[in-house]
Amino acid sequence: MAKQNIYDNPIFFDGYKKLREKEKNANNIFEKPALFSLLPNLSGKRVLDLGCGFGEHCMYYIAQGADAVVGIDISEKMLQAAREENNHPNITYINMPMEDISQIDDKFDVAVSSLAFHYVEDFANVVKNIYEKLNDNGVLLFSQENPLCTCHSGGDRWTRDENGEKKYLNLADYGVEGERESVWFVDNVKKYHRTFSTIINTLIDTGFVIEKMIEPLPTKEILRNMPEFKDLYHKPDFLLVKVRK
Ligand SMILES: C[S@@+](CC[C@H](N)C(=O)[O-])C[C@H]1O[C@@H](n2cnc3c(N)ncnc32)[C@H](O)[C@@H]1O
Repeated sequence: MAKQNIYDNPIFFDGYKKLREKEKNANNIFEKPALFSLLPNLSGKRVLDLGCGFGEHCMYYIAQGADAVVGIDISEKMLQAAREENNHPNITYINMPMEDISQIDDKFDVAVSSLAFHYVEDFANVVKNIYEKLNDNGVLLFSQENPLCTCHSGGDRWTRDENGEKKYLNLADYGVEGERESVWFVDNVKKYHRTFSTIINTLIDTGFVIEKMIEPLPTKEILRNMPEFKDLYHKPDFLLVKVRK
């Protein structure tokens, strides 16, 4: 199965880096706080970060008391930045697709993946490999683009009023799973759509117990300062799931 490595594309990489450097991006406001709120106590734990990117989360897990963190990513450019900006003696960065984690010898107490699973074609296999890499009672916690976003397969995402305000989401092909191509900094960025039931049933069928899900929404205070985020009430951008072995 061919794996896409779009983050090594220099134009994509520069666009993505600039986006993440903006303080008020949706990751910082919604996804990261929700993800970190679901973390178990990391004191003395071994953590695997799948699709670790710039390694910022790996540093956070160390600051939360993790004994050791292994960050893996398919993109060498992302890992170069991680090694420069988020270097720590207890963090190991490995250039590897998450589909191949069975090659890692270690076992882990916690596996975390932030906004990377929607790039994976064979979700069931990745989930199975994570299950095998976790110690008993281990936690898998991940965020991904919400299935209401990943289903998009073309045309305008929104129906707008005469002033250009978003009225509602144009939803189509939710039930058609599989590859989607989109334009994000460059053409032909591949992501994979799976329905909620496929995601949840894959986790259950592998043996995980679902503990919590979050679809982050803006608080009143966020809306007061950034009213543009009211669109999240039509469609949340992210899905977060915490499961236990
Ligand atoms: C949106 S970025 C998120 C980076 C980081 N987790 C964060 O939240 O800051 C997605 C990351 O997943 C990585 N990725 C995509 N497909 C992957 C795969 N099959 N195996 C490992 N990493 C992958 C990309 O290279 C990229 O660094």
